[in-house]
Amino acid sequence: MTPISDDLLDQVRGWLRQARKIAVLSGAGISAESGVPTFRDAQTGLWASFRPEELATEEAFRANPTRVWDWYAERRERLRDVAPNVGHVALAEFQQRHPGRLTVITQNVDGLHQKAGSTGVLALHGNIYQDQWLDPCQLARRAHESCHVEQAEAGRPPSCAHCGNLLRPAVVWFGEMLPMAALRAAEHAATECEVMLVVGTSGQVYPAAGLAHEARQGGAKVVIVNPQATELDDVAHAVLVGSSCQLLPRLLDF
Ligand code: OAD
Repeated sequence: MTPISDDLLDQVRGWLRQARKIAVLSGAGISAESGVPTFRDAQTGLWASFRPEELATEEAFRANPTRVWDWYAERRERLRDVAPNVGHVALAEFQQRHPGRLTVITQNVDGLHQKAGSTGVLALHGNIYQDQWLDPCQLARRAHESCHVEQAEAGRPPSCAHCGNLLRPAVVWFGEMLPMAALRAAEHAATECEVMLVVGTSGQVYPAAGLAHEARQGGAKVVIVNPQATELDDVAHAVLVGSSCQLLPRLLDF
C-alpha cells in the first residue's frame, strides 16, 4: 500500500473544512475493523459454497426459506456483540460537533453507525435486526385480524399462525426496490453536498453507487477511503488508500 501524502490529506481536509454539507456513503468495509466480514468475504464455514447472490433474493427465500433464514440468523448472532469502531465514532462525533452538516448514507444493515451515535442515518438496504412479512397480509381485510406468530410454534422462519405467511429479514434483497424515502433523502444529500466521502464500499451495487456520480454531477468533491481499488475510483477527485479507522479520525478531527 503506498502511503498517502500529507499534501493529499491536507487538501481533502481543506475541502471538508470549507464544506457546509458533507455526505458519507458507507459500505461493508467501514465495519471490517469491528470484526464484521465484508459482504463478499462473509461466506465461510457452512455457507462457503453459496454466493450472497444465491441467498439474498426473494427467489432463494421462497425456494428454501429455512436455509436463507438460518443464514441471516447466523449473521445476526455474529453481530450481537460487535461494537462500532473509531471510524463510525469519528462520524458520529463530527455530527455532534457540527449539527446538520454531515449525512450518513449506508448500505450496511448492521446498525453500527446508529450504535456509534450517528443520527439521521439513511439505511438504504434496511436493517438486519428487523423482520417483515413476506407477502401482504391477507387477514388485514377482516376486522381485528392480522398476521401474527404464536411463539410456541414459531419455526424457522416463523410463520403466521392463521395463514402460513412467512417472516423474512427486513433487508433489501437483490432485485428489490430500495426504501423510497431513504433513497430520495440520500439523493438530496448527494446533490446538495460539497464533499462526499465514499468509505468502505466496492461501488459495485446500484443505485447506491450511483450516489457518488450524482454528487460529482452536483459539483461535490468525491473522496474515496478504501485500502483497495474500487469501481468508483474514476469518479473521485481523490482516492485515499487506507482503512476507515486510520483515515476518518484524521479527516474529521475539527
Ligand atoms: P463489499 O463487500 O462489496 O466491499 C467492501 C469494501 O470494503 C471493499 O472495497 C474493501 O476493499 C473495503 N474495505 C475492506 N476493509 C476496509 C477498511 N478497513 N476500511 C475501508 N474499506 C475497507 O461491500 P459493499 O460495497 O458494502 O447489498 O457491498 C454493497 C452491497 O452489496 C451490500 O450492501 C449488499 C451487497 O449486495 C445488499 O445486500 C442489497
